[in-house]
Amino acid sequence: MPIQVKRLLVVFAVFIGVMLGLKYFLTPESWREFGPYRGKALTEIADQEAKYVQMETCAMCHDSIADLKDQGLHISIQCEICHGPGYRHVEDENIDMVIPENSDFCMTCHAINAARSTSIIKQIDAIEHSEGEDCISCHNPHEPWL
Ligand code: HEC
Ligand code: HEC
Ligand code: HEC
Ligand code: HEC
Repeated sequence: MPIQVKRLLVVFAVFIGVMLGLKYFLTPESWREFGPYRGKALTEIADQEAKYVQMETCAMCHDSIADLKDQGLHISIQCEICHGPGYRHVEDENIDMVIPENSDFCMTCHAINAARSTSIIKQIDAIEHSEGEDCISCHNPHEPWL
C-alpha cells in the first residue's frame, strides 16, 4: 500500500475515534428512551411552573367581568390572552396584571389580514373605522358589542 494512503487511513481512524468518543461522552443518558426523543425532556417540561391559570380561576374573584364577557362576542377569548399570565397575581393580587394600553393591541387580532376569514373574525382598518381613536372609548373590551 502506498505511504500516502496509509497516512490517510491513520487520519481517518483518528477522526472516527474522536467522533465516537464525543458521541459517548456527549449523548445524554436518556437519549432515545422514547423513539427519537430524550426521555428526561418530559420530566423537565413537567417540572416547569404553570404560568396560565385559565378563565375559571379569574372568575372566582372577578365574577362580574367574567359574566359580562360570557354574554358577548369575546366569550371565547381567555382573560390571559389580553392580561398576560396570571399565576403570580392569583397568589398575590398586589402583583399587577398587564392592562393592554392602546388600540395596537386590539389590532393584533382585528387588523385586515387576507389569511383570516372574516366570517370567523371581523376585521377593520383602524384609520377608516375610527380615525385612530382608542378602541375602548367606544367598545368595552370585555363585551365589545352591547
Ligand atoms: C384571589 C382573587 C383574584 C383572582 C383569582 C384574580 N384576581 Fe385580578 N384582582 C384581584 C383584586 C383584589 C384586584 C384589585 C387589586 C388592585 O387594585 O391592585 C385585582 C385586579 C385585577 C386587575 C386590575 C389591574 C391591576 O392593577 O392589576 C386585572 C386586569 C385583573 N385583576 C385580572 C385578573 C385576571 C386576568 C385573573 C385570572 C388570571 C385574575 N385577575 C385573578 C383579585 C383576583
Ligand atoms: C380582549 C381583551 C381582554 C380580555 C379577553 C379581557 N380583558 Fe380585562 N381589560 C382589557 C382592557 C383593554 C382593559 C382596560 C379597560 C379600560 O381601561 O377601561 C381591561 C381591564 C380589566 C380590569 C380592570 C378594570 C375593570 O374593568 O375593572 C380587570 C379587573 C379585568 N380587565 C379583568 C378581566 C378578566 C377577569 C377577564 C376574563 C374574564 C378579562 N379581563 C378579559 C382587555 C381584556
Ligand atoms: C385574541 C384576539 C382578539 C383580541 C386581542 C381582540 N379581539 Fe375582538 N374579537 C375577537 C373574536 C374571536 C371575536 C368574535 C368574532 C367576531 O365577531 O369577529 C371578536 C369580536 C369583536 C367585536 C364584535 C365584532 C362583530 O362581530 O360585530 C368587536 C367590536 C371587537 N371584537 C372589538 C375588540 C376590541 C376593541 C379589542 C381590544 C380591546 C379586541 N376586540 C381585541 C378576537 C379578539
Ligand atoms: C368612535 C367609536 C368607535 C371607535 C373609537 C372604534 N369603533 Fe369599532 N365600531 C364602532 C361602531 C359604531 C361599529 C358598528 C358599525 C360598523 O361596523 O362600523 C363598530 C364595529 C366594529 C367591529 C365590527 C366590524 C364589522 O365588520 O362588523 C370591529 C371588529 C371593531 N369595531 C373593532 C374596533 C377596533 C379594533 C377599534 C380600535 C382600533 C375600534 N373598533 C374603534 C365604533 C367605534
